[in-house]
Amino acid sequence: MPNVVVVGTQWGDEGKGKVVDFLSERAQAVARFQGGNNAGHTLVIQGVKSVFHLIPSGILREHCLCVIGNGVVMDPAVLLEELRQLGEMGHHIGRERLAVSASAHVIMPYHRALDHLREEAVGNLTIGTTRRGIGPCYEDKVGRRGIRVEHLIDGNRLRLVLEQVFEEKNRAIQEYGGEPLDIDEVYAQYLEYGLALKAFVCDTSALLHQIRDDGGSVLFEGAQGTFLDVDHGTYPFVTSSNTTAGAACAGSGVGPTFIDEVVGICKAYTTRVGAGPFPTEDHGEIGAALREKGGEFGATTGRPRRCGWLDVELIRKASQLNGLTTIALTKLDVLSGFDVVKVCTGYESDESGALIPVYEDIAGWSEDISECVTFDALPQNCRDYVHRIEEIVGVSIGLVSVGPDRRQTIGLTELFEGLK
Ligand code: GDP
Ligand code: IMO
Ligand code: MG
Repeated sequence: MPNVVVVGTQWGDEGKGKVVDFLSERAQAVARFQGGNNAGHTLVIQGVKSVFHLIPSGILREHCLCVIGNGVVMDPAVLLEELRQLGEMGHHIGRERLAVSASAHVIMPYHRALDHLREEAVGNLTIGTTRRGIGPCYEDKVGRRGIRVEHLIDGNRLRLVLEQVFEEKNRAIQEYGGEPLDIDEVYAQYLEYGLALKAFVCDTSALLHQIRDDGGSVLFEGAQGTFLDVDHGTYPFVTSSNTTAGAACAGSGVGPTFIDEVVGICKAYTTRVGAGPFPTEDHGEIGAALREKGGEFGATTGRPRRCGWLDVELIRKASQLNGLTTIALTKLDVLSGFDVVKVCTGYESDESGALIPVYEDIAGWSEDISECVTFDALPQNCRDYVHRIEEIVGVSIGLVSVGPDRRQTIGLTELFEGLK
């Protein structure tokens, strides 16, 4: 098994969690390298659904080490809650199953408060963040006033940073009309989190190198999607981290030569949650049908997702930005029943400069494909759709997903073959 980066090629929720879980059968470790609990990654195994916001999607494979890398912003309450829920499901996670980077930044109560208050304050101009404190936490990281996981297990250092930043944070919170926070309460609470998480904290970069040196392989699990990338996405309607494949290196402490393959997860149509440009968005019947058939409601915030036809031009761009070596096409089953399926192959501008998508029509198929186990069992029009995407993007499709369950997955290339 090669070392593989898995990234979203659209605006998130492409089915990364499902594909990472599928691939993790053969990997020794799965590492998150950016984002935080703004993510919501769904796994369905024999009909049982789990959603993880922070813990990597390899957690349900007993042999797999899950790593929260240095590039992640970590909310300790969320991590502890996910561990508690896993315990209830019979998965008792010890340090042989989970490692948290000492250098990862910690989401503090003032980050959540400011995310929420700023979104409320800007009215119509909102980005539609998940309000989990992601942006404010990354601001402090880059501003060199952040709190890292290592601070949680060293009371003196934690206190020192809190004292440096607290006045300013409370001033900002009050300017937006929020309630100031109590430094002693926050200090006590986060020391407690530190105690609870201490056993998992280590140098995760060294750990990943050790795994490779021992002949093991690592999956790097991206969160969000290419066009939510802070540099390459639809700025300012983006998240606050680099979501593209290059970030896997800086966010986990490995070099580019560590990585063998880059898998782009592409939903068979397009969705987006939150504000920002979305050229193929359909406000009419098609969008509503995709939302209903695809169950397009956010795994993190429950918000209805905006929906439209597949924008292949966007995937072509994503292929360049990430250096994709293969594509995993998900939710193909949702397109059953449309007479015609459209794909956007480029744009024209109208007088105002707005981008108007140019569509190509592909004949649809009516058959339910959710029980198909081979590519050849798919209807001809459906296979044509898959091949047309490959052709336009110029990258082969190595996996087709025909339902949410782990078993509803068709592997087409060596990387994905023989997995269950
Ligand atoms: P992620 O954030 O990229 O991991 O994706 P999410 O979990 O937020 O959203 C994907 C949703 O689609 C989840 O509800 C999955 O269970 C579901 N899903 C994944 N693959 C398929 C598929 O091939 N078909 C269908 N119908 N649902 C899928
Ligand atoms: P997964 O990993 C879809 C979106 C938010 C908002 C913007 C900024 O499940 O694909 P943030 O809270 O990050 O500051 O919000 O990014 N967003 C996502 N959309 N899937 C996600 O994660 C997302 N994480 C953030 O809706 O538009
Ligand atoms: Mg999601």
